[in-house]
Amino acid sequence: MYIKISKEVQEQYRNDVEKILNNPDFQKLRFYRQHNWTNRLMHSINVSYLSWWIARKFGCNEKAAARAGLLHDFCLYDFSETPPDGEFQSFFHPKVAAENSIEHFDITEKERDAILSHMFPLGPLPNSKEAWIISFADKICATAELCSIAIALARRGKVKFVPNPA
Ligand SMILES: [Fe+2]
Ligand SMILES: [Fe+2]
Repeated sequence: MYIKISKEVQEQYRNDVEKILNNPDFQKLRFYRQHNWTNRLMHSINVSYLSWWIARKFGCNEKAAARAGLLHDFCLYDFSETPPDGEFQSFFHPKVAAENSIEHFDITEKERDAILSHMFPLGPLPNSKEAWIISFADKICATAELCSIAIALARRGKVKFVPNPA
């Protein structure tokens, strides 16, 4: 499958996320339901774009915001499962997302820390501007999604899922 982001979306953003977006393991996020009506892949794309947009407005590292936003929930299991050690999922899944991201992509320390702290105040304090942005964007997207409001790139078909050419 190839994920195509509309040319209406800034080229810089498309370039920053293309490699992660078209990784077959990352694309498996589409199989997990998130916030009632959307899936984890679309949620992650929304958090990524909103984080990138805010980071750009405030002169922060927009590439780190876009990438960590995309990877913040990179967990290939259902969040209704209880973690093996009985820990709350809110505290557990950022660690799994960070581990998966390290395993699959060459992420920076800043990106890793932002993934780990995205559930703040359930979890560690964000320690960079980009980490604060991702934590904020995640809450905005989750709230909109829970209310069935299409925001960011979920609106007007800006993301297309195209089968790979034979
Ligand atoms: Fe999360
Ligand atoms: Fe999330």
